Amino acid sequence: MKKFTLALLAVTLASQLFSQTADEKKKIEALIKQMTLEEKVGQMTQVTLAVVAKGGWANQDGSLDPVALKKAIEDYHVGSILNVTTHAVDVDTWRSTITQIEDESKNTRLKIPVIYGLDGIHGQTYTLNSTLFPQNIGMAATRNPDLVAKAAKVTAAELRASGVRWNFAPVLDCGRQPLWSRFPETYGEDVYIGKTMGVAGVTAYEEDGLKTPTAVASCMKHYLGYSASRTGKDRTPVYMPEIEMREYYLPQFQAAVKAGSSTIMVNSAEINGVPVHASKYLLTDVLRGQLGFQGLIVTDWEDIKRLYDRHNVASSPREAVAMAINAGIDMSMVPGDLSFYDLLLEAVRNKEVPISRVDDAVRRILTLKMKVGLFDNPYPEDASRANFGKPEYQALALDAAHETMTLLKNNSNVLPLAKNMKVLVAGPSAQSLTALNGCWSYVWQGNQEQWYPKDSKTILQSITDKVGAANVVTTTAAGFDDPRNYDANALKKAAANVDAIILCLGENAYAESPGNTTDLALPDEQLQLAQAAAMTGKPVILVLTEGRPRFITSIEPSMKGILMAYWSGKKTAEAVADVLFGDYNPDGILPFSYQRSMGEMVLYDRKPTEDVREVFNDNVHTGYLPLYPFGWGLSYTTFEYGDIQLSSGTLSRDGSINVSINIKNTGQRDGKHTVELYTHDLFASITPNMQRLRAFKKIALKAGEEQTVSFTVTKDDLAFVNAELKTVTEKGEFEIMIGNKKAKITYTE
Ligand code: BGC
Repeated sequence: MKKFTLALLAVTLASQLFSQTADEKKKIEALIKQMTLEEKVGQMTQVTLAVVAKGGWANQDGSLDPVALKKAIEDYHVGSILNVTTHAVDVDTWRSTITQIEDESKNTRLKIPVIYGLDGIHGQTYTLNSTLFPQNIGMAATRNPDLVAKAAKVTAAELRASGVRWNFAPVLDCGRQPLWSRFPETYGEDVYIGKTMGVAGVTAYEEDGLKTPTAVASCMKHYLGYSASRTGKDRTPVYMPEIEMREYYLPQFQAAVKAGSSTIMVNSAEINGVPVHASKYLLTDVLRGQLGFQGLIVTDWEDIKRLYDRHNVASSPREAVAMAINAGIDMSMVPGDLSFYDLLLEAVRNKEVPISRVDDAVRRILTLKMKVGLFDNPYPEDASRANFGKPEYQALALDAAHETMTLLKNNSNVLPLAKNMKVLVAGPSAQSLTALNGCWSYVWQGNQEQWYPKDSKTILQSITDKVGAANVVTTTAAGFDDPRNYDANALKKAAANVDAIILCLGENAYAESPGNTTDLALPDEQLQLAQAAAMTGKPVILVLTEGRPRFITSIEPSMKGILMAYWSGKKTAEAVADVLFGDYNPDGILPFSYQRSMGEMVLYDRKPTEDVREVFNDNVHTGYLPLYPFGWGLSYTTFEYGDIQLSSGTLSRDGSINVSINIKNTGQRDGKHTVELYTHDLFASITPNMQRLRAFKKIALKAGEEQTVSFTVTKDDLAFVNAELKTVTEKGEFEIMIGNKKAKITYTE
């Protein structure tokens, strides 16, 4: 009886939900019927906060200009606003800004609320004292999707507490070009990691239900192929055969669409000469037709204008608008003025854009607004405010930073250092916060220390806290660029009385084009500092705080230990100190190949001819020679792998194989460890990758403990994109590789 009642309740709830959606659909259709063309085009217009802020672009505090606000919302019917004017503001300022905007929307004829969007890239970028987590590249090193999900939930909560319901994240671009200035925003060079972490993020942002004050609409970006710039410069041409696009760049978006992401942002650059904002093929045929994406497609910054004034594929701004909207764009991040509105109106009136396309876009925009609950209550919810800055977020930020730490080298077990050793802390990132957090940290570029939380720590502070001021000397000064940080003579002198040198090198914060570089090598002045440190004869531990793998090949042999710290957010410094002095046993592993030089940029999933190279008539196995390979990362303990056990040596089309392996912690310390499963197709119609990551599991093992780790392998784990652009598995032999163990299976179709 009880069961029956429960079942009935479930059915009733489900049908209520269903009819609610049907109701909402009706409401949206009714609204569209009432809307004038002007109101529709306004909905498709997204402007930046400066357009409605006091003093416009010069605005410092985010305060609104009532006249400009009225003009945008009442006269131009603007549907969406984004961004900050210059820097992050506090949570209550955000709440009041959003309240004023929504108040204004109530003055319009149809009272359609405005949707606000912000970048919460590694935590909520633009609210002061928000919790910043490691950049995606570091999150990928954790191989811990659960951490990605937890961090995304905090980001969502802090955005929503700020009154914002739309997050321009996650970045799903595949980081196969380490020169690219947005490499830190990616999950690295592997497709499977990108898919797994991307889905974890999307799900975490949205799963509570978008009407709940702990969720935000996610925005997959930047569709498609943005990261594959030929030169590595941001927003420059990509040349990519479709087979490559479908193998390495599309699957992350496909998986995130399936996971239910509500919106998508488009790549500002071009593929094979076609700007993606003008590509009906990619936006409509592939994204809508093949991937089945139903949500909203928003442009990136100014990208419709750029079809005219940068890409030169439209001969006038109006043609650019028509081109993009006809290709499938729903909302234009204009964002610095209201020009899009006038141009789209003209284009529709001139029959250059059909009204059906406008209605379709508006329907998707209103659906999003309905989904996130703006029609119920557009104001910051009371219940959301308390979710900002909870103490437990700090612990999570530390967990995440710990798990990103990737120990690349530890000669003669120089690490961990004893806490009574005297150390010299040197290098430009020793007393910098910006070089620990990177892009999208309180300002777009992440490079203004004054906006960081007052309790943020530098590496020097964290080491001093741990081992006491008496054990620490430094030659550094605050800030990355201070000339004293590069003084090799001072460093040599100061090294005389210490037991070890902790040398903190890397990159200061940058984002997008300002991060373009002409050389991946660390700048000369940093390399010289490392050489000077090595010449002292004291053991040098190199700590790298960087967003992309800068070459260290010339100094690497003389470094005794190397810790890759990435840009790991608020708790980077504490995590570095914990690893260096043994309070945390590192477990991060590289999500990219740490390359050696520009001429040696082979990726881990290389092809046979990149692996076995031809030297005149001989073949030599010198193919994959990065400084540190993909998946590399040391621990203070050791793990031993048993042999791979297979439930069967053959796999059929609908079958699966259980693959298991015994892992033992054979060292003296407890530790976490990621077990990765790779496959290798021995012969295939398209040259096979030498290895492809297909699954991973992170486990925790106490000293001496062992555990069996199991994976289920199906034909999908052996698949690739063939010449007909279909994802297929071909019959034949495959290797399964886990750690240093291999086993063979046969796929029979
Ligand atoms: C970036 C996007 C970002 C947008 C809004 C653009 O410059 O490419 O990733 O979401 O600005 O801030």
